[in-house]
Amino acid sequence: MVEWVKEKTMKTNRRAELNFFEDLKVTAPTFGAAILNKERFVEILKECSAITELALLKNKVFTLRGIIAFPRGDREGVLNIDSNGDTVSLRKDVLISELNQILEVQTIGRAKYYLKRLEDGVQRIKTNKVSDINLLRWKEYDDIITDSLWVLDKRDTSGAHLGWYWGNFIPQIPHQMMLRYTKKGDWVLDPFVGSGTTLIECRRLGRNGIGIELNADIVGKAKELVEKELNKYDVTTEVIADDSRAANIKGILDKYGMKQVQLLIMHPPYYDIIDFSKDRRDLSQAESVDEFLEMFGEVVDNVTPFLEKGRYFALVIGDKYSKGEWIPLGFYCMNEVLKREYLLKSIIVKNFEETRAKRNQKELWRLMCLN
Ligand SMILES: C[S@@+](CC[C@H](N)C(=O)[O-])C[C@H]1O[C@@H](n2cnc3c(N)ncnc32)[C@H](O)[C@@H]1O
Repeated sequence: MVEWVKEKTMKTNRRAELNFFEDLKVTAPTFGAAILNKERFVEILKECSAITELALLKNKVFTLRGIIAFPRGDREGVLNIDSNGDTVSLRKDVLISELNQILEVQTIGRAKYYLKRLEDGVQRIKTNKVSDINLLRWKEYDDIITDSLWVLDKRDTSGAHLGWYWGNFIPQIPHQMMLRYTKKGDWVLDPFVGSGTTLIECRRLGRNGIGIELNADIVGKAKELVEKELNKYDVTTEVIADDSRAANIKGILDKYGMKQVQLLIMHPPYYDIIDFSKDRRDLSQAESVDEFLEMFGEVVDNVTPFLEKGRYFALVIGDKYSKGEWIPLGFYCMNEVLKREYLLKSIIVKNFEETRAKRNQKELWRLMCLN
């Protein structure tokens, strides 16, 4: 009988403890970064891993989580930042969710697996060949979109991104492509650079960028805009006035001692939807879809030899609807690229609420579609 009461008391306590776990989950401020004493943090993770009883291991992890969530209660020295010491900054919400994962496991083996993973994430950096994403801390990159449907509600209008150019793309596109497919210091080539959106993003992300644009007036404005963006990584961002079908890419790269680039971004005219100029070399002046595709192919041929092997080419284009017929420019252009021995990695559809074409006309737009 006494035994039973004891058992019941223990059970009650455990339940109370579990409720406390839940409370902590709800009330802990989990935003921002946790800056930790790296050595001490790793030491604690190792101490946890050395524990052979799951309940005791969880107890220690529970304490650790409490310190991260409520830093004032730190008696372990995890947050004791010695001025000469090595620190590590982890996203607090991700760290707490990693610790929660350990608290929820059923076996000690699993707990140790997660502890080791956390330790590796703090001590090592593992990237792939095309980006700086630390795969050991992949959970911290939820700003990178990996879906094939992008639903974006607003254009990024910060800094030099003024969005004045009719026919520009939203900065989020080059931003995402560069984060995913380039490393800091890599070179990006945009043969239809227009108002310079790609180059502004290059400056923000520390990538070197070369943009080519046929329309000399736009080149001047793009240069001005790009210069407005802070160049905190001291990268090269050059806008060149030329026809991308014939521009001397080798000569341009030679100037910087480069032989190849690591990312191609192309945002060509959507055939004749917008008249970018009256210049016959302008793709928007093509006399037919076939001619447009031929000109587009010439640009691809001119720049492809300068894309490093195994690197990416992002093509951004919309379709056309004219005289009751859908003209899938996107698929046509994609085929032009595929004829040239590229491997297709993905097709992304972007839905954007506030496009310039739809601005203040959403209802009219819908009515036209239903008609
Ligand atoms: C869709 S816009 C690109 C906009 C750009 N992404 C931006 O955000 O501003 C296409 C651009 O290609 C340029 N263009 C057309 N034919 C070209 C050619 N043969 N060589 C270089 N640029 C060309 C047009 O002048 C236009 O600025």
